[in-house]
Amino acid sequence: MQTLPAVRQLWRDVILFDGYRQWSEPMAVLAEQGIVAGLWPEHEFVSSMAQGAHEAGRGGVMTPGLVDCHTHLIYAGDRAGEFEQRLEGVSYEEIARAGGGILSTVRATRNASEEDLIKSSLPRLDALLADGVTTVEIKSGYGLTVADELKMLRVARRLGQLRPVRITTTLLGAHALPPEYAKDSDGYVDLVCREMIPLAARQQLADAVDVFCEGIGFSPAQCERIFQAAIQEGLAIKIHAEQLSNLGGSALAARYGALSADHVEYLDEAGVQAMAEAGTVAVLLPGAFHVLRETTLPPIDALRRHGVPMAVATDANPGTSPICMPTLMLNMACTLFRLTPREALAGMTRHAAQAIGHPELGHIVPGAPADLCIWDINQPAELAYAIQAGRLRQRVFGGVVQNV
Ligand code: NIG
Ligand code: FE
Repeated sequence: MQTLPAVRQLWRDVILFDGYRQWSEPMAVLAEQGIVAGLWPEHEFVSSMAQGAHEAGRGGVMTPGLVDCHTHLIYAGDRAGEFEQRLEGVSYEEIARAGGGILSTVRATRNASEEDLIKSSLPRLDALLADGVTTVEIKSGYGLTVADELKMLRVARRLGQLRPVRITTTLLGAHALPPEYAKDSDGYVDLVCREMIPLAARQQLADAVDVFCEGIGFSPAQCERIFQAAIQEGLAIKIHAEQLSNLGGSALAARYGALSADHVEYLDEAGVQAMAEAGTVAVLLPGAFHVLRETTLPPIDALRRHGVPMAVATDANPGTSPICMPTLMLNMACTLFRLTPREALAGMTRHAAQAIGHPELGHIVPGAPADLCIWDINQPAELAYAIQAGRLRQRVFGGVVQNV
């Protein structure tokens, strides 16, 4: 039997942000068979520590591969017309109540085949990868029938086979009320609980279940029923909450042990406290805040005070955040929400990994998967400071190096 030599890769002299902190001196980093195997301050490093390793790079800034923990990447069509309407003063809610918004993307997505959806989604996925993403969460939510929601989830799984990226999937059957159930929202929630969730779980198409808790979405009582159904099937839960108003969805989700509550602009102190107690991550989505020209800021100081982990994501979707540039979200998290660059970067690495239930990702420590980015910049804060594509020098996924 032939044993293959261990594949050892070494980066020398990198400025390292490891997901927790920025090291004050240049570092040497070793990966072995896809796993981070060693970290040393450069001046302590001697080659015997990494015998036989191939030098994969020298210099630059190394961060964990970025984790985009909230996206609606798969959809058909676009909503540029709605963007123009909003510029003329019509609100997102008004458009939704008139049957546009999410429902207009639902119409287009129902009419699209799996192949169509792969074709329209791949360029968006590629844009994320080109800006450093190695893990991405993708939600369904533009099908709103059992068959169309499962179709979206299958497409999400297939995207992960077509590109070197880790994809986690979230069933968002309760994203909007489909027209067939316009007068029977509880009937639709029954369908989500009794058919969509069990089928998605049993076909292993969903890792988590999400809900849109809002006046134009679902009530807290309906969300609660969906959480119970998800938990029964062993799925993690997440919530879109406190985006346009405060319905107490985040606190409710926290009581059910949610991985994350996302948006949270209207979150109050009691909600923050409930999230802190449950270890629920606050996922901040500055792209949607910017596009909807929101003015109510998420309660960043309260989140900090209570030690709630803050993640940052693109929320890539055709309505509120047609954005596939994660480093722009780092910038907006700082300029709009006043996160520090380091908080923003932790928000798109280790806290984002926590928000999708993968705490082994999003940091660079021995034993973690070697998902890494090497950037052509001088210090990690530059990722948030400048809005500029093309700074990624190498993207490493499970130890496999892609020179960009
Ligand atoms: O995260 N708020 C609900 N869902 C998405 C928007 C989806 C859409 O408008 O298509 C969000 O903002
Ligand atoms: Fe969203």
